[in-house]
Amino acid sequence: MILIFLGPPGAGKGTQAKIIEERFAHRQISTGDLLRAHRANKTALGLEAQSYMDAGKLVPDDLIIRMMEHELANAKDVIVDGFPRTVAQAEAFDALLAAKQLSAKAVVFDVDQNVLMARLTGRWTNPRNGRVYHTIFNPPRVPGIDDEDGGELIQRPDDKAETIEKRLREYEEKTAPLIAYYGRAGNAIHVNALADIAVVTDEVVKALPGLAPTGHAA
Ligand code: AP5
Repeated sequence: MILIFLGPPGAGKGTQAKIIEERFAHRQISTGDLLRAHRANKTALGLEAQSYMDAGKLVPDDLIIRMMEHELANAKDVIVDGFPRTVAQAEAFDALLAAKQLSAKAVVFDVDQNVLMARLTGRWTNPRNGRVYHTIFNPPRVPGIDDEDGGELIQRPDDKAETIEKRLREYEEKTAPLIAYYGRAGNAIHVNALADIAVVTDEVVKALPGLAPTGHAA
């Protein structure tokens, strides 16, 4: 089963995708993490995406669709985190799924806009694997250090207040219409992403009884 995690910046998509990935046989594919890796490796795609990301804008559809066609070539049980983000991306994804005779379900993270700024300005990220923390809501054991690999955490450059505002506007204009897109197709479930992290995880897991445990579930 392909799962699409859909919601605004800061809704908790990445946080939940990492938890589900650890507990169940579903691998996370995060477009944001892929793009940041392309940037770090200075690939042509990364260099082209850079200015859009820094400005809080979506990267052009053709670049994203090409990247995802490659990433999804052998995908079966995956969580797609951050894709699709426009109707054009959703239509391209539908065509890809149809060609592979796969179906997808969207998990919509319902959240109030007014919590997102605090979540994003307090976020600290492990740039090596995309794991995220929050200074108040999910602090690491040692400030600035990842609990698992012991390496440094960073603040994402696009987590500045003015860039966050632009990202939220992009979301409302271009991505929020996808909630109705998947709803019309009967392919969306909603979770209350305002709840505590562990409560959100429970809700996602209950809504998706088909998830297969990895064998080292919590
Ligand atoms: P991307 O990296 O995908 O960023 P995003 O969608 O803006 O999502 P975030 O990672 O900011 O939020 P999240 O929902 O994952 O929240 P998180 O779990 O970290 O994209 C970055 C950029 O890449 C885009 O702006 C665009 O330029 C480009 N891009 C990517 N995909 C694209 C596409 N398909 N098309 C075009 N361009 C694309 O949580 C946030 C914080 O809140 C954390 O600190 C966490 O600890 C905390 N938190 C999480 N859950 C809770 C909770 N329940 N209660 C309290 N705190 C919580």
